[in-house]
Amino acid sequence: MDRTFKNVLVTGGSGFIGSNFIRWLLGPGKFPGRVVNFDALTYAGNPESLDDVAKDAGSRYVFVKGDIRDRSAVEAVFAEHSIDAVVHFAAESHVDRSIHGPEDFVSTNVMGTFTLLDVARNAWKGREGALFHHVSTDEVYGSLGETGRFTESTPYDPRSPYSASKAGSDHLVSAYHHTYGLPVTVTNCSNNYGPFQFPEKLIPVMILNMVEGKALPVYGDGRNVRDWLYVEDHNAAVWTVMTKGRTGETYNIGGENEWENIRLLGRLMELVAAETGKSPEEYRRLISYVKDRPGHDRRYAIDCSKLKRELGWRQSVDFDEGLRRTVKWYLSNPRWIDRVRSGEYRKWMETNYAKR
Ligand code: NAD
Ligand code: TYD
Repeated sequence: MDRTFKNVLVTGGSGFIGSNFIRWLLGPGKFPGRVVNFDALTYAGNPESLDDVAKDAGSRYVFVKGDIRDRSAVEAVFAEHSIDAVVHFAAESHVDRSIHGPEDFVSTNVMGTFTLLDVARNAWKGREGALFHHVSTDEVYGSLGETGRFTESTPYDPRSPYSASKAGSDHLVSAYHHTYGLPVTVTNCSNNYGPFQFPEKLIPVMILNMVEGKALPVYGDGRNVRDWLYVEDHNAAVWTVMTKGRTGETYNIGGENEWENIRLLGRLMELVAAETGKSPEEYRRLISYVKDRPGHDRRYAIDCSKLKRELGWRQSVDFDEGLRRTVKWYLSNPRWIDRVRSGEYRKWMETNYAKR
């Protein structure tokens, strides 16, 4: 029988995947309960991404500004909202930033996850039916050569401070399950794309730089491979695992959609050109090969056959269709883009949202 929940705590719900998750979950016919979004609103969190949802969902959506490293704030949210499920997205998420400043990654991804786990363990003592779902990445498995795919039993081999901190958090989740019996599920997903992604990741950086006539920075030889999945398909998979997955299990989620960065950029140029009326050639001239990222993982590819076989999940958004939706979204949301890129916005957010 499927698990059901009443009050779901979403950490990091103002970020890219978390905000898409909340919009999806509170959409028609999916979940009748309440969603509590707990987010510290770092540079990557934008509560405006959910303004429409907040209006439509009424009391079914609650925003709490808070840091997952702040134990008393996490305890308060569990007590006040009678939380029976956690879906843990909150993290420092960008590899390049982790190279320049690893400390925040260890602090939020490792210590923050520890704090959440420990509060959940105490809050759920003697309680049946609760679940802690941890959202992780395929990057914990390291880097592949030309062939092969990551399965759930691939040994961990993280290579960036980001992936090492995510690996640390995955191990803590597993330890809390085995040692204390905390009911957990874990998913490790490949690269996501879609609306509301902070313009520091490959796809939004490239779309916006094309539109603004700026250089398109391709790291190294441009032949690194990523396995791309539309964000809504990731979120449907997370919910499938939360409601139907076996407790204590890890499920890999992937697009089965491998692209070399340079080939992906070519396709993106065609799709952006189709929207702007320019020629892809104009964008091609902007390509600039730049110094490679240190320790740049060569190839990621996910084997998600366990999730498909056991729980019946499938990808539903074709890559061209997902990219087209993403391009259109970035072209029609200049205000959101200005806001997340401006320091002013951060100040405004602190004074307005913090007081709500
Ligand atoms: P993001 O950077 O867009 O959003 C992260 C959110 O977490 C932001 O809203 C931020 O304010 C919040 N946050 C950061 N530190 C916090 C703290 N200490 N306390 C409370 N909130 C905090 O990230 P994303 O791309 O949406 O990724 C979400 C999760 O999915 C992460 O755990 C990431 O590792 C995982 N993941 C991402 C991808 C991807 O392609 N983006 C792929 C697989 C897994
Ligand atoms: P990114 O979106 O940072 O995701 P991740 O490193 O977590 O996979 O990068 C995706 C790929 O694109 C990766 O191989 C690095 C490359 N890349 C560029 O070539 N140029 C860029 O400006 C960015 C942000 C990434």
